[in-house]
Amino acid sequence: MFTKASLKLTVFYSLFFFLLFWSFSFGLYTWMERSFGESYISQVKEKHYQTGQNTGEFNDDKITVVTVAGEVALNNLVNILIIFNASLLLIIPVASWFFARRTLAPIKQAHEQQKQFVSDASHELRTPLTILLGEIGVALRKQRSNQYYRQILKSNREELSRLSLLVENLLFLAREDQNKHNLQFAAVDITDVISSVIAGLNSEIKKKRLKIIFKPPEESIMVRGNASLLAQLFFNLIDNAIKYTPAKGTITVSLMKKNKAVKILVKDTGMGVSPTIRERIFERFYRADSSRSLIKGWGLGLPICRAIVKRHQGNLTLHSAEGKGSTFTVSLPVVSAKSAR
Ligand SMILES: Nc1ncnc2c1ncn2[C@@H]1O[C@H](COP(=O)(O)OP(=O)(O)O)[C@@H](O)[C@H]1O
Ligand SMILES: [Mg+2]
Repeated sequence: MFTKASLKLTVFYSLFFFLLFWSFSFGLYTWMERSFGESYISQVKEKHYQTGQNTGEFNDDKITVVTVAGEVALNNLVNILIIFNASLLLIIPVASWFFARRTLAPIKQAHEQQKQFVSDASHELRTPLTILLGEIGVALRKQRSNQYYRQILKSNREELSRLSLLVENLLFLAREDQNKHNLQFAAVDITDVISSVIAGLNSEIKKKRLKIIFKPPEESIMVRGNASLLAQLFFNLIDNAIKYTPAKGTITVSLMKKNKAVKILVKDTGMGVSPTIRERIFERFYRADSSRSLIKGWGLGLPICRAIVKRHQGNLTLHSAEGKGSTFTVSLPVVSAKSAR
């Protein structure tokens, strides 16, 4: 598909440049040819009398010399233009091919990413559907006890809620791509958002016997944003810190206000991220091999975080050394409570 498009664009660019240079050459030739005619002779004649040193008449011999000189110059110009245009026959298609490929490169990349996204999403959707179908098939094969049916239904519900969460995530990213989110932005106290996210994750933290350190700042820090998106952002980051930190580890959430921005750091003492995949973990469906086999997930949490942060004109960075924990830093512009309204 892209080779065909590249070829078409090459032909288009080539025609454009050929037309440009041909009309330039033609224009130059016509202009020079006109200049070497009558007007050229009369100009030379004028100069001849003006200088005063030339005493002789501007006779036919001199006119012949001037005419021949003009013809020689014109011939030289024709030769130069022929050589110039002949070399363009080689250069233009090559240059056009190069430019065509450069023009199409970002489109090709976006297309590849989209294809990958669709294929990964279908793959992830297929797994829970296969489980559901399998379980229902086994349950229907013969008469079973009520308890068995209850167990199957419970397991089905778990799979279905995972499935619906996956669809929610996919829908979020698809809407972000199309810029179709109709979001309400208002003044949000970022400390409140983080506190309630931590409260919601408390049972998970306790289950893994993790220690969480969070000291809310005394003054309230306001950002202009969408409270539920910001909650999702910090949920994803703290949820990751819980998932990728072994039992008895520590998670520290800290806030720092500096000038017109607030920095929120989510630090853990977990498995960390190797430098080679530091940027890749923000790609859709990407998961480090170390987490893939052990912990459930789809690799959509961080891409969603990036999208949310971008929506709030902030940025999200990661500092990590493998095996030594990770620190995710969110920077958001702060606003005074009044101007955020
Ligand atoms: N705090 C963390 N410590 C170590 N690795 C992490 C951390 N957060 C994210 N990762 C890595 O980044 C990958 C992508 O994270 P995410 O997008 O949230 O997807 P998921 O959690 O579903 O795997 C994870 O699979 C994991 O390999
Ligand atoms: Mg995650």
